Amino acid sequence: MTLLDTLFPSLSLVPVVVIDHADDAVPLAEALLEGGITSIEITLRTEAGLRAIEQVAKHVPNIIIGSGTITTPAQMDAAANAGARFHVSPGVTEKLAAHAATKGYAWLPGVANASNIMTAMEHGATRMKLFPASLSGGVPMLKQFASVFPQLRFCPTGGIDEKNMHEYAALPTVFAIGGSWITPKEVLAAKDWKQVSAISQRSMKALTALA
Ligand code: 3PG
Repeated sequence: MTLLDTLFPSLSLVPVVVIDHADDAVPLAEALLEGGITSIEITLRTEAGLRAIEQVAKHVPNIIIGSGTITTPAQMDAAANAGARFHVSPGVTEKLAAHAATKGYAWLPGVANASNIMTAMEHGATRMKLFPASLSGGVPMLKQFASVFPQLRFCPTGGIDEKNMHEYAALPTVFAIGGSWITPKEVLAAKDWKQVSAISQRSMKALTALA
């Protein structure tokens, strides 16, 4: 059992958040929880990202906080120190994979082809993020991977929304679905937390209908 197995024991939704104001992180995480979502990936694409992770880790202990868009070992360490319990990268590199393994971090490497997958496997990864999911091959690609790598589990991200999430959720090798549709830019800008809860609730309903 790996740390990621423990964090995601059943089919989950992972909102991918690009945050401009760290102070929005706590109400946002609370709104997700209110809508039934139990994890959040805050990306380090903005300056506020790290502080947002820190705020959520400190004030919203019931949500599983993760860091996203991790491209260097230093970012992974900083996110872990801020309280992130898992880390997500858009791709896989030898350096990141070795670092995550040495530190014992729960890390989801991004993969888009069989070679990426094999690199991640060489460092012990069994759960990975398919990115960008729709552009790299989507559902048919995951079906193909399931026959070649039946032991692996994937979190497809990129190009997924309320309309097509069910296609991914129906695959037995999918353990989570990630995306920004739950926390749209304009909804965050308006601080419309009710809307975040509503989208979360609709998406979770669609997910559990399939489970
Ligand atoms: C990611 O970081 O995983 C993607 O940017 C999320 O993709 P989406 O915006 O298409 O959901």
